[in-house]
Amino acid sequence: MKYTRMPIEIEAPEGLGYHSIDCNLSESSFSDQRLGDLGLDLNNLLLVYSDHKGQRELREVIAKEANLRADDVLITSGAAPALFIVATSFLEPGDHVVVAKSNYATNLETPRTIGAKVSFLNMKFDDGYILNLDELQHLITNETKLVSLTYPHNPTGAVITEEQLRELIQLIERKNTYLLMDETYRDMTFGNAPPLAASLSDRVISISSMSKSYGLPGIRIGWIMSQNKKLMETFLAAKEQIFITNSVVDEEIAFQYLLNKPRHLESVKQTILKNFIVLKTFMNNQSVLEWVEPQGGCVAFVRLKKEIDIDALKFHQVLLEKYKTYVGRGHWFEEDDRYFRIGYSWDKTEKLEKGLKNILAVINEIREVK
Ligand SMILES: Cc1ncc(COP(=O)(O)O)c(C=O)c1O
Repeated sequence: MKYTRMPIEIEAPEGLGYHSIDCNLSESSFSDQRLGDLGLDLNNLLLVYSDHKGQRELREVIAKEANLRADDVLITSGAAPALFIVATSFLEPGDHVVVAKSNYATNLETPRTIGAKVSFLNMKFDDGYILNLDELQHLITNETKLVSLTYPHNPTGAVITEEQLRELIQLIERKNTYLLMDETYRDMTFGNAPPLAASLSDRVISISSMSKSYGLPGIRIGWIMSQNKKLMETFLAAKEQIFITNSVVDEEIAFQYLLNKPRHLESVKQTILKNFIVLKTFMNNQSVLEWVEPQGGCVAFVRLKKEIDIDALKFHQVLLEKYKTYVGRGHWFEEDDRYFRIGYSWDKTEKLEKGLKNILAVINEIREVK
């Protein structure tokens, strides 16, 4: 495989240096949590190699929520390696895969790096980013090894309904292919989340992690869920060849955190809702940007209205260099830079408010008025 760094990683805020950003609206997760604030006890932890599938108690907690078994869960070092394991287990050069676009960059880049033939299911702003099952049906051929979707969607915050999910899975089964469902944002669905996709069929592989909904990206814990024993055996083999086991420290933190998940999540959701109202009020009171209102997650993908005559590159440069405000640029998701992602629940609410004002200030400052 030939690896190339992706713009989203090259331009990541942690590489830029957090100190150089005043309002960080470029993140796609809930605020990072401090270990000491989580009330955990790690002193008795034995620093052994963990169970290769991942700590059993952790797998049990994760599986229980979806009425699955601990053996239907494989712990990985975050969702990104989980996606990598699934893609490399399914795809070889020339194999056909259907991937939703725009998307979290790894979901686009890994199949390409493998040399797979990628067909894109284009998610369109003007269609409200809804899942077009007719279009998907036409993209799936007899050769399609895998369909890769993300819900709630990054960067748009679009969601899938239970009805759509069941229809999608029927399509996957009818076509004898497999569904890779990246559900990393599932716990941040605004209303009731649909069932966990992997609980509905053994042709589905669900991916998730501790990074986004709980603000714990630094422990690098994610997982693959599937009822398909043969696939899980292959994924385990891949994990063992890449990193054998996870860090027991990371696993224990995830386990103790998830034991109290309802309590933690309630406060996460309250903050997200508060910030979402700030963002929605902002969007309703300006005339230069438009969006498809998100239904979940903690990001929104807005775009400059067509009539706004602006050099998108200059917009992003001035926003960062003069106003120290950072957003997720369109090209991170293989879109035009007139689109940008606003992460509204990583930085403090005051910084969100200030960052949004800065966005308008830059547009007014550099806009060509005819
Ligand atoms: C949709 C999606 N999936 C997976 C990941 C990877 O997350 P992690 O590896 O931190 O769990 C991200 C990170 O931005 C994401 O947005």
